[in-house]
Amino acid sequence: MKLALITGGSKGLGAALVQWHLDQGWTVREYSRSGQGDVHVPCDFSAQDAGAAVLEGSFAELAQHPWDVLRLINNAGTLDPIGPLTDSEPSQWRAHLQINVAACVTATGLFLKHFSLSQAPQTVVNISSGAAVTPYHGWSLYCASKAALEAFTRCVALEQAAAPAPTTVVAIRPGVIETGMQAAIRAQDSAHFAQVEKFRKLSAEGLLQSPAEAAQRVCGLLARGVRSGEVYDVRDLG
Ligand SMILES: NC(=O)c1ccc[n+]([C@@H]2O[C@H](COP(=O)([O-])OP(=O)(O)OC[C@H]3O[C@@H](n4cnc5c(N)ncnc54)[C@H](OP(=O)(O)O)[C@@H]3O)[C@@H](O)[C@H]2O)c1
Repeated sequence: MKLALITGGSKGLGAALVQWHLDQGWTVREYSRSGQGDVHVPCDFSAQDAGAAVLEGSFAELAQHPWDVLRLINNAGTLDPIGPLTDSEPSQWRAHLQINVAACVTATGLFLKHFSLSQAPQTVVNISSGAAVTPYHGWSLYCASKAALEAFTRCVALEQAAAPAPTTVVAIRPGVIETGMQAAIRAQDSAHFAQVEKFRKLSAEGLLQSPAEAAQRVCGLLARGVRSGEVYDVRDLG
């Protein structure tokens, strides 16, 4: 039995990752606010303590079962608030960092803790973005949060290398995908997001991947084998 734990699996890339794993016979749990069905676990990562409590309870219960393979995909993410930093408020900055960074730290730490006794091969996948290394006017929080995820990935991988049964920890930049996040980007005016035309053009020229295509690329990469501590960009993989 294989278990995939996916944050933000209600829509976009996360929903496609959920579907990919279900199609391959994995047991799946997805953690979000608006998902549905048997795999859905209601969870709001902007409420830090409540989100952590949900993950703690769910992981503790699942760790009682024997698994052959374990995978955590930290996919939940937000771009909000888009725009120059001075156009938004501290409560919005805090919520952004909780969803994009603290939830990933929390899920990873609790995953390592609760499944530490399992002999199953374990992988943590942090969904990053090219924005981790490319600055965008209007995306200061998003770029910072993705850079933080990549640094976090490298450090936890180093720590795991010394563990008796190391968990593989990688970050993957999935490329540009036609999701609600991209629709929200294209709806911005250029005062809020200076590079909006670049993203409108990508869409107009049909250059966006579907969520299913992106999920296939992410999962195909994992199936071929990854090196712990690496940051992969699916656009480099052909
Ligand atoms: N789309 C792209 O072009 C692109 C490119 C590079 C990287 N990425 C990354 O890919 C990942 C998925 O993005 P996407 O494009 O699929 O975005 P999306 O369609 O907006 O989906 C975002 C997911 O995150 C969840 N989420 C957001 N806020 C949450 C909260 N407070 N608590 C719990 N879950 C929350 C959402 O669930 P609920 O709303 O149901 O809570 C949803 O399932 C993100 O990490 C993003 O940064 C996307």
